[in-house]
Amino acid sequence: MMPVADIIKEISQEEGNQVKYFEDLLEKIKKLNMMWKVLLFAFVVTTVQGRYENVNMKQDWWETAIFYQIYSRSFMDSDGDGVGDINGITSRLEYLKEIGVDVAWLSPIFKSPMHDFGYDVSDYYTIQPEYGTMEDFEHLLRKANDLNIRIVLDFVPNHTSNESEWFIKSSNKDEYYNDWYIWENGYLDEHGRRRPPNNWVSVFRKSAWTFMTNRDQYYLHQFGEAQPDLNFRNPVVVDEMKNIIKFWLEKGVAGMRLTSINHLFEADKDLYGGRYPDEPLTGKPGLGPEDYGYLEHIYTKDQEEVYDMVSQFRDVFDAISIRNNITRVMMTDANTNIKNAVRYYGEGIHSGAHIPFNLALVEDLDRDSDARDIKYAVDRWLTYKPLKKQANWLIGNHDKSRVASRFRPELVDAFNMLVLLLPGIAITYMGEEIGMINGFVPWSETKDPQACNTDDPVNFIQVSRDPVRTPYQWNNGKNGGFSTAEKTWLPVADGYEQLNVANQRSAVRSHYQVYRTLTNLRIRPAFKYGRYESLALNSDVFAFKRWYNDDTYVIVMNVGKTYHVVNLTAFDLVFGQLEVEASSVLSSRSYSDNVQANYLDLTADEALVLRMQI
Ligand code: NOJ
Ligand code: MG
Repeated sequence: MMPVADIIKEISQEEGNQVKYFEDLLEKIKKLNMMWKVLLFAFVVTTVQGRYENVNMKQDWWETAIFYQIYSRSFMDSDGDGVGDINGITSRLEYLKEIGVDVAWLSPIFKSPMHDFGYDVSDYYTIQPEYGTMEDFEHLLRKANDLNIRIVLDFVPNHTSNESEWFIKSSNKDEYYNDWYIWENGYLDEHGRRRPPNNWVSVFRKSAWTFMTNRDQYYLHQFGEAQPDLNFRNPVVVDEMKNIIKFWLEKGVAGMRLTSINHLFEADKDLYGGRYPDEPLTGKPGLGPEDYGYLEHIYTKDQEEVYDMVSQFRDVFDAISIRNNITRVMMTDANTNIKNAVRYYGEGIHSGAHIPFNLALVEDLDRDSDARDIKYAVDRWLTYKPLKKQANWLIGNHDKSRVASRFRPELVDAFNMLVLLLPGIAITYMGEEIGMINGFVPWSETKDPQACNTDDPVNFIQVSRDPVRTPYQWNNGKNGGFSTAEKTWLPVADGYEQLNVANQRSAVRSHYQVYRTLTNLRIRPAFKYGRYESLALNSDVFAFKRWYNDDTYVIVMNVGKTYHVVNLTAFDLVFGQLEVEASSVLSSRSYSDNVQANYLDLTADEALVLRMQI
């Protein structure tokens, strides 16, 4: 018989709650005499309960926070030059407070010639002058701190700008910077002409190699020509990247988002006889050798080395978190498949990111998606995600068509309910809370390098990211209240006279009002700690349940175009009456209306947050 002390020790140390473990334990306990059984039972109950509460109730600040993405260039212009800036953001922090977000993460604000609007950094330690000064940024941090809003910065480790001092020095073969980038000779073809080293293509189209006459070599750029890739096989580069992270974390930012992280490494050419291997063709129809989709990116993305690098970066975050006694979060962004995506949570001895971006709702859903697709996209991520890690949800960003345009404006509230009430972290792209729609930016005013690189005044629209980056719509005044300039860097989207914050703030029913209701609801235990279960009640109606102890909510959304009657008692332990806590703008139901669990009629696009009455 196992000594009682050992059993107690085992219970105290076991941190999981796997069924198998408790079954084994039960077997051992069965063999004890009655008195010990009773005592042990009491001990197990209190320990397990205590642990449950600990695990669930003790959350770090970021674990169920709402992150709000600010596309810095388009949020608020304080100095009338038509370009958003830091003081503009500072002036609107109260707005973030008002809508209930916890963290603002800013698209890049570092010095940049703006070929990719800040995703091409020329100096990681300096603020882009157009956006303000370091003092302005420090002021932003102080004010944010006073309002209890945290600031996260976007950080681009994969590439710098071709105007960075590092790159200029490297292209001149400066001894120290010589190996900071990927330089190759290319080769001579049968006509004696110099050719790029291989067939690799940039994400923005065309060869990923550009020739520099001063160095007499090609450099690699996985994105635009103005964005040379750093050489992560050079330890000095890695150290410098860590220094940049330290610098900003020490300054007081709450975290950083490491973008395009899965592009950090290319295949090791030494394993291929000293020459970077060609990538195989996808065989996708309608694409040519200059198109990114023409190749299978097996040598330029998702290389094994990246996971160790992420873990090294995480150590930097952890060291500073420990020193300052507050967690600094590492967010990673990788456009990859789900198995790779969840590897960024860390595995084995490799720690990973706190928040590896979950692009499922963006990548897996489109205009034709129905309730079953939504359920599948959500459950799929939850299935692949390591059990004990926090999920995160987003439905848009500065690279993807806006929710109102990608689906339809009537579904804005439903998707905000999804992002804000699913378990884990919520990420809102600025403007989603008021249901902003894509702007129209003609070819003549197009700025996005991805669109410009198509050289196609008609089809550029399919890839242009400008429409989702148009200025934020504050009110019905000049330029939607974004700027006093005669011309803003991108035109303000049509319809801003109606679709703006001021209008929605004064309306009784608006996306803004729904969003605020949701951010308020979200702090209840059912949403912070509660469990999750979902059903596609039919192909149009998606519903999920969140509950904690006996406080139960059902979120139900008809994403179809017809009326439906559904029965919510399909969920375990849902019955009787439910009360409306939030309803989509066009719903005829309001706060505190009652509905029947077993007979709920929903109009097309209607979305509700319901609370069970007990
Ligand atoms: C990822 C960013 O989200 C995107 O906007 C940018 O163009 C690429 N990184 C390249 O820097
Ligand atoms: Mg400005």
